[in-house]
Amino acid sequence: MFIPALEQARKITDEYGTPVFVTDARTIRKKADTLLDAFSAFNVKIFYAVKANYNPHIVKIIKESGIYGIDAVSPNEVRLALDLGYQKDRIIFTPSNPTDEEISGIGKLGVLQNLGSLSELRRFGKLFPGESVSIRICPEVGAGETAKVTTGQSESKFGVSMADLDAVEKIRDEYNLRIAGVHSHIGSGFYDPEVFKKSVEAVCSVAEKFPDLDFLDFGGGFGVEYRPEKDEINLKDFAEAIKKPMADFEKKNGKSVEIRIEPGKFLVSQSTVLLAKVTTIKKKNGIKFAGLDSGFYHLIRPAMYDAYHHIVNLSNPDGEKEFTQIVGNVCETCDIFNKGIEIAEPREGDILAILTAGGYGSSMSSNYNLRGTAPEVLINGDKIFLTKKRQAYNQIMDCFTDYK
Ligand code: LLP
Repeated sequence: MFIPALEQARKITDEYGTPVFVTDARTIRKKADTLLDAFSAFNVKIFYAVKANYNPHIVKIIKESGIYGIDAVSPNEVRLALDLGYQKDRIIFTPSNPTDEEISGIGKLGVLQNLGSLSELRRFGKLFPGESVSIRICPEVGAGETAKVTTGQSESKFGVSMADLDAVEKIRDEYNLRIAGVHSHIGSGFYDPEVFKKSVEAVCSVAEKFPDLDFLDFGGGFGVEYRPEKDEINLKDFAEAIKKPMADFEKKNGKSVEIRIEPGKFLVSQSTVLLAKVTTIKKKNGIKFAGLDSGFYHLIRPAMYDAYHHIVNLSNPDGEKEFTQIVGNVCETCDIFNKGIEIAEPREGDILAILTAGGYGSSMSSNYNLRGTAPEVLINGDKIFLTKKRQAYNQIMDCFTDYK
């Protein structure tokens, strides 16, 4: 997990101010290597779920690290992938509730769509009879960091129900479609290979119905550790979970098919810290608060999912450890980065590093309170450079029609 040295952090904050996201390219490369190595026994292609972090400089590092393609969920994510030079067959489009215009637009680009409802499949068939499409099924098993990011359970809004597979075949036949892939994504941030295995088995059981498949896609969601003292998952256990169901499937199928996975947070989360400055120290009712010059509009995971993000005081590493609540500068009770952590005494002016902020940090930031999104800096070998500028007031207000 990347933690910058104080000297490096100081150089960056002196030049670009705080708050600022700082990403270490080496950490991303290491994660990519771990993925490629763990699944090397299979004919596997890895599609990066670009929603986790769409900073184009970061996506380029991922591309250069041997990650095959992009998992896109919106037309603009597809556009970004094309802009970055991905061939259309290296992009998969997995929308949630797409419009007809989106299905039509992406279809015309020739990018494969992975659709999760009978309605979408039918609308695709009407627009593109005779073409290939992938289906997202609901494997009826889910897992994730919290219920809010668990997607595979039967009552979730995602995927085609197992009970509707006959209807899928009917639509396929009516529009002469080819089902090129079967996909499931059980949730974001799971740690148990057994649950993953169950979803692999579900995908394999569905795949038996579609003999001319190109691939099986087991989604993303591989968990990362947010606490530095804890061990990472062993991805090889997840690769192992694929082995038997895949072997059984291929035996019945009579030929081997490609496997796809689409990790997001695994590749990027640990590569990035959010550096923020302590503006205010306050004690109230026995609680010590350290208030920062950032808020949930830069990193919403703690407020939205109760996610744990470890925080270190770079400026005062030898300070006495104190139990402190680390909070943001928004007038909302949930604007807390960490509800309480033993941290080397934070003092006003200190730079704190909020760790593991690379996945769903910047990409989920907003303009709430009109403070603008934070700049982003990339450390790539001996180069340190700005990849995203601090968002200015005018850039936010430009979206509004004339008001002056
Ligand atoms: N594939 C599909 C179809 C997805 O919907 C997602 C994420 C992924 C792959 C990648 O999942 P990952 O490997 O990143 O877990 N904002 C939440 C996570 C939401 C994930 C949404 N879907 C968070 O901060 O934890």
